[in-house]
Amino acid sequence: MNPFKKHICEILAEETGLSFSDISATLEKPPQENWGDYGWPCFSLAKTMRKAPPQIARELAGKIQSDGQIESVTAEGPYLNFSLDRKAVIEYVCKQIFSAGDQYGSQDVGRGKTVVIEYSSPNIAKPMGIGHLRSTVIGAALRKIYELLGYQAVSINHLGDWGTQFGKLVVAYNRWADQEKMAKEPIRELYRIYVKIHDQAEDDKSLEDESRAMFKKLENGDPEITELWKKFIEISYREFKRIYELLGVEFDAVVGESFYQNKMPDVINLMDDKNLSRISEGALIVPLDDYKLEPLLLKKKDGSTLYSTRDLAAAIYRRETYKFDKMIYVVGVAQSLHFKQFFKVLELAGYDWVQNCRHVDFGWVKLGSEMMSTRRGNIVFLEDVIDQSIEKASKIIAENNPDLDNKDDVARQVGIGAVVFADLSVKRQTDVAFDWERMLDFNGHSGPYLQYAHARLSSVLGKHGDDFDRNTDYGILSLPEEFKLARMLLEYPEKIDEAANHNEPYIITAYLLELVGLFSTYYQKYKSPTDKILSDDRNLREAKINLTYSIRTVLKSGLNILGLEAPEKM
Ligand code: ARG
Repeated sequence: MNPFKKHICEILAEETGLSFSDISATLEKPPQENWGDYGWPCFSLAKTMRKAPPQIARELAGKIQSDGQIESVTAEGPYLNFSLDRKAVIEYVCKQIFSAGDQYGSQDVGRGKTVVIEYSSPNIAKPMGIGHLRSTVIGAALRKIYELLGYQAVSINHLGDWGTQFGKLVVAYNRWADQEKMAKEPIRELYRIYVKIHDQAEDDKSLEDESRAMFKKLENGDPEITELWKKFIEISYREFKRIYELLGVEFDAVVGESFYQNKMPDVINLMDDKNLSRISEGALIVPLDDYKLEPLLLKKKDGSTLYSTRDLAAAIYRRETYKFDKMIYVVGVAQSLHFKQFFKVLELAGYDWVQNCRHVDFGWVKLGSEMMSTRRGNIVFLEDVIDQSIEKASKIIAENNPDLDNKDDVARQVGIGAVVFADLSVKRQTDVAFDWERMLDFNGHSGPYLQYAHARLSSVLGKHGDDFDRNTDYGILSLPEEFKLARMLLEYPEKIDEAANHNEPYIITAYLLELVGLFSTYYQKYKSPTDKILSDDRNLREAKINLTYSIRTVLKSGLNILGLEAPEKM
């Protein structure tokens, strides 16, 4: 908690006799900006004091003195409003940011706690789609958010590398794989034959049987087929890794579903021991009618286990291995029912830690008409999207700034930034539409817009040089935007906390857009020799530069959380 808020809570606790935590939970941002920086509703005192809230507010306002941190206290209806001391706020944030650097915003609420974050989790032998990109981008951002809060974060990529579809794939490979294409574009080739066998199996039942038999062989460890399956994994992961490297995304553990294969008997036994499972039409299920849910399928008629059985095993294994305090699954909203079912089954099995497991769902990614041209089969190749974005960014940059030195690098940063930002440009549960115009609009709601602001801030700072006087007189910063900017910087740590509480990176997105918007106004509005950042007045310039430096530091930190690079020129 920032020292200003803490100070206000302490004063209020003393004046009212309420607890510090009750007050801090109800201290808010006033609905109107000119009412001050913090507002406290006096309703909760009405009963004990037997007075109307507006009267209580007036009385309290009369009692609380302004001091070095509080500039004034006023009553506005039932609200008690506090305005902070401008100089104190600007000085505090600038000094704080100078000393913390890129760790500004880090906290210790998560110290000693472990959070498991599962994200990306694409399927082997299929290209990574834009749905998996969204999981990757949201998950990677959450990981950084939790880490800033002091959590030990364990990121897991739960690869889809098991299931009857691998029987199909082996059959298809043996029949149709074109080795030349396998050497050149293996994923596309695997995907082609995968689509083909699905199509043909619809008319040709024998293909289904053959595939099932093939999967049985794989389950039984047939060496030749296992070898082939391993090859599929290797080829696929090599491709995925290329994308992860482009995005700057990492995992602590890449563990496919197949890893849990030998843990299936334990899960099945556990369900039996707890008297949760039943045979139904030859399959083994956990009925969940009492909870108005479809039954969870543990084993098919043919004896093979399923996605959900492996998820049960994975959760139990992760809890044993990482002793997590919290586990989140970043997976599309389409799988909501699955998560409800398997969380419920864990709960029924007596695992109370499941209360701390969350399905962090996200909406669909929709494609504009131009994107459709990248369709092959019925999936969009993520790499195509990224490549196109880089190419488009490159054209825009060549036009805007033909003399830029490292154009290719910047185009890569901006092109990727545009795609990544698109996924984070709305709340996670909201669907997103990939729209090139908007994604690459340097003046709009886009990644490049934020990156461009970073480049502009860097350019101003570059013109100033490396000479900072951190103990300059901050009291001379009198423009309203300067205080507002500092006030926003003061809020950054709270935003990180809030983003973790809601598992919502968009809170950081929205914050950065607002910060950059405010900075742009400030930058455009004040151009006079004294008012501009590189003011002719030496003392003013020192203070303005320090604030500018602080804004850049926070913008860079926020971009880093979202997974965007922060170019110094563009
Ligand atoms: N591989 C799955 C898919 O693409 C996502 C896995 C989600 N994670 C989980 N633990 N079920 O649909």
